[in-house]
Amino acid sequence: MIEAVDPATAEQITIDLHLPPGGPLSGMAADVRAGLTKPFKELSPRYFYDERGSILFEQITRLPEYYPTRAERAILEHHSAGICATAGDPATLIELGSGSASKTRVLLDAMDSAGCLEAYAPVDISEQITRDTAEAVASEYGIAVHGLVCDFERDLERIPLSGPRMLAFLGGTIGNFEPAQRASFLARVANLLGPEDHFLLGTDLVKDRERLEAAYNDSAGVTAEFNKNVLSVLNRELGADFDLDAFEHVAFWDDENLWVDIRLRSLARQVVDVPSLGMSVPFGRGEEMRTEISTKFARDGLTGIYAEARLEMVDWWTDPEGVFALSLARRAG
Ligand code: TRP
Repeated sequence: MIEAVDPATAEQITIDLHLPPGGPLSGMAADVRAGLTKPFKELSPRYFYDERGSILFEQITRLPEYYPTRAERAILEHHSAGICATAGDPATLIELGSGSASKTRVLLDAMDSAGCLEAYAPVDISEQITRDTAEAVASEYGIAVHGLVCDFERDLERIPLSGPRMLAFLGGTIGNFEPAQRASFLARVANLLGPEDHFLLGTDLVKDRERLEAAYNDSAGVTAEFNKNVLSVLNRELGADFDLDAFEHVAFWDDENLWVDIRLRSLARQVVDVPSLGMSVPFGRGEEMRTEISTKFARDGLTGIYAEARLEMVDWWTDPEGVFALSLARRAG
């Protein structure tokens, strides 16, 4: 359903654009070049989410094997009121990677019921989805919405608004950061928090190998299709000639690093041309290229990771099955 934005609502919406001039994909060429010239090739997970990738990911979240999305929603449904109270009834919810904010509404409802909700600040790389979300939330809740279209890894410090805030980073996306990248991101979050502010983080938890590997190797093959879709993005955006049938999806639990390692394996010895990078990229038969890591956490480990970033865990909630967690942290004193 498409609704017109009424003027009273529109007045409460501000959208700041901080994308580089070339748009969200402007750093792609340099990024892909760097990844494809490493001895162990890798691609950044940020390019998964074109239109088709976003649809495939939506499908992943509904797969029987893929528990994280449902588990995080269950935590929010059971504990939003408690989270809101523990966070000191914040006036503003800032959300990193807000997307369509479907799970966020559970939190907004709790803040609304507590009578503390004044503003929402969605932060996302997609301008269209941020505008749509801003309009929907402003009219549903009658609150001010200050959207920020940016790469939050780069522009975190631009996040506006003051007062008791809760900065939420849901979905377990922190697990897709490499350890060093995660440490510097969390340290920047800590710096951003005022004495009354809180950070709400979604993390998938360490569990048995079978369950983890099934979540990333679904029987319907949607995850494989999603993983390979990144090659179509490279074909379209960089004129590459990846043959999607010449690669297979690989995902396995690495119990030393505590992450699911997600790769594409070349089924043959082949050379892929990437004209806009002026590159020919050789792949050996069986050679694997990393496309994502998905780190899983335990409470003690996360407490330590927070402490190194000068954050202090205030509380922790899990779903009834104990497969996913939301934790609340504040700046260490
Ligand atoms: N970031 C999500 C996760 O770690 C997305 C995801 C699910 C994913 N399945 C995938 C990313 C397969 C790459 C490949 O759970």
